[in-house]
Amino acid sequence: MKHLKKLYENNIKWADRINQEKPTFFSDLSKQQSPDYLWIGCSDSRVASEQLVGLQPGELFVHRNIANVVVPTDLNCLSVIQYAVEILKVKHIIVCGHYGCGGVLASMQSIELGLIDNWLCHIKNVHQKYQHELQEYSDETERLDRLCELNVIEQVKNICHTTMVQRAWRNNKEISVHGCIYTLETGILKDLNVRYSQVQDLNAIFQLRKAKKNVYKSNITVMETS
Ligand code: CO
Repeated sequence: MKHLKKLYENNIKWADRINQEKPTFFSDLSKQQSPDYLWIGCSDSRVASEQLVGLQPGELFVHRNIANVVVPTDLNCLSVIQYAVEILKVKHIIVCGHYGCGGVLASMQSIELGLIDNWLCHIKNVHQKYQHELQEYSDETERLDRLCELNVIEQVKNICHTTMVQRAWRNNKEISVHGCIYTLETGILKDLNVRYSQVQDLNAIFQLRKAKKNVYKSNITVMETS
């Protein structure tokens, strides 16, 4: 308690202030949450999700990890997306990166950091995909910032490729996936103008169709007869 004294004191002040402004705020919020947005951002302590978009508790469902990466085998992130899409029924999923991201920077360097290097491989894959474009930047900071943007764009696509988002679209649910990037020096959020709201927006390789009932059986038949 004594080590976190300041935090507990701050908490009492914060709750008091909100209670004074709206006495029913916490009791109302305790009954349910119905956020319209899922936010997937970097764990960086300087990118304060709710505050920077002026939203209150209850308005933003949040998942954060190092360098805002969405991996289709990460059960943690997938569970957040599934719950947000299917139970909370959010309307928008936002990937928010930030310029000067330490995780993205580490992925550009070849210094062994340990376990995290495995995580950073996902960003290295983005780096490799856009290697030719990134090589055009002679300024290292500009190259880093462009990779920060490209990483957001690729993670937006990764979200769209998940079964949860594609199934939601197939069931005519209105849900859009967006990408934006935050500037630490100014506090300004920039729209990267990347937005997906239907399965047709995706590369055909990733588009999923509902399986026909006997498709598996017929495949076996084809295999047996060929
Ligand atoms: Co970061």
